[in-house]
Amino acid sequence: MFSRCAARSATVASPIQTSFLKTRTPLFSAITRQCRSPYLNARVDGRRYVSAYGYTQAKALVYSRYGEPKDVVQLHKHSISAPHGTQVNLRLLASPLNPADVNQIQGVYPSKPAFETTIGTQEPSAIAGNEGAFEVIAIGSGVKGLTTGDWVVMKRTGQGTWRTHAQLDESQLIKIEDKDGLSPLQISTVSVNPVTAYRMIKDFCEWDWMRAGEEWLIQNGANSGVGRAVIQLGREWGIKTLNVVRERKTPEETETLKQELKDLGATAVVTEAELVSGEFRNIVKELTRQGKEPIRLALNCVGGKNATALAKVLAPGSHMVTYGAMSKQPVALPSGLLIFKNLVFEGFWVSKWGDQNPQLKENTIKDILQLTRAGKFKDIPVEEAKWRWKTEGPELAAAVQETLSGYRSGKGLLRFEGDD
Ligand SMILES: NC(=O)c1ccc[n+]([C@@H]2O[C@H](COP(=O)([O-])OP(=O)(O)OC[C@H]3O[C@@H](n4cnc5c(N)ncnc54)[C@H](OP(=O)(O)O)[C@@H]3O)[C@@H](O)[C@H]2O)c1
Repeated sequence: MFSRCAARSATVASPIQTSFLKTRTPLFSAITRQCRSPYLNARVDGRRYVSAYGYTQAKALVYSRYGEPKDVVQLHKHSISAPHGTQVNLRLLASPLNPADVNQIQGVYPSKPAFETTIGTQEPSAIAGNEGAFEVIAIGSGVKGLTTGDWVVMKRTGQGTWRTHAQLDESQLIKIEDKDGLSPLQISTVSVNPVTAYRMIKDFCEWDWMRAGEEWLIQNGANSGVGRAVIQLGREWGIKTLNVVRERKTPEETETLKQELKDLGATAVVTEAELVSGEFRNIVKELTRQGKEPIRLALNCVGGKNATALAKVLAPGSHMVTYGAMSKQPVALPSGLLIFKNLVFEGFWVSKWGDQNPQLKENTIKDILQLTRAGKFKDIPVEEAKWRWKTEGPELAAAVQETLSGYRSGKGLLRFEGDD
């Protein structure tokens, strides 16, 4: 008993001490619950604690090889030292499970994470997740712009957000000014999807602002996080939106989804079946007053026939921006659209754009949060996975695995419910 307590104290006194939780036996847990070390200033009851030396227990979802999340994602326990200089210690509030996060774990995403042993994993590993909201719990003496209790997001993607705690340099963080009236969900999901929607609408089409309310955009995946942001920004900026969703199991469920998007401000919502049917041209003619109101932008995150059908209803000289490939089908285009309609086909990737335009990204986030505070930007529906200190790795990995399953009632969200 004595030797195990001594070992526990040693763990706390070391800068980074780690263990994969699956190797931790119930016997060991029981023993640690009984230990009370003179070096600890908080209870040792199997929950997180901060030692007298300022070491914080933390857990992170990591992977050391590519594959399906359920096979490769593990929960890794480690400790984080007290912050020095410009370092900041953070506690997770919430982090979404985005499709790109899973693609990254599968190894099919262009940006590869760094595989390192910095948090003491046995094998070089990456911390999963690319966006999230964190609370500042401790700051180094050189930190100028942050204080404990502030909420922050990470400046760049690829830094690993699926972790209960993190230590980062102040320069890597964006402070959420005036967080009153904002929720962890809103902040944790602001920097990828709404920013993508915002930039695609603003940067790829020269809207004629004199014709506000008379110009359209069309998009597929309209019930996604990006799609919902597009609808609300369109509503705010006087751009009509024609939105495509996949049918649900029953006509009633499909109607409910359509109505949900109309309540957000969608001008019209059609199903994928309607989009690829012969009737679609007539539907468009009617909606656009026989083409007097041009569809000037198409936003495509699906590909395949769905994307081709979007392109066919664009006005001459319009742009289609592809930013996702949910159907895994290539985008095929009739040559006539290029020759006779002079359509422009482009792509957008928010990670790269954000790295190249850090200040503009920060401003875009501020703008969106301003709309959120004003009640003009509604929360996305989520399926929450609560992350408590005792939550096991396989439970969290299963939540991650669900991300790409389709027909979900909401986006997966990790909400950390540790008490400090
Ligand atoms: N390029 C960028 O910078 C960027 C940034 C953000 C997001 N994205 C991409 O944008 C897309 C949406 O991301 P998100 O986070 O907004 O998604 P999300 O909220 O997780 O929603 C996923 C969306 O994909 C649809 N979907 C799933 N499987 C599909 C399939 N086989 N065919 C057609 N639609 C399918 C879902 O429709 P159902 O409800 O019908 O399943 C839902 O609308 C993803 O491809 C993501 O990678 C790209």
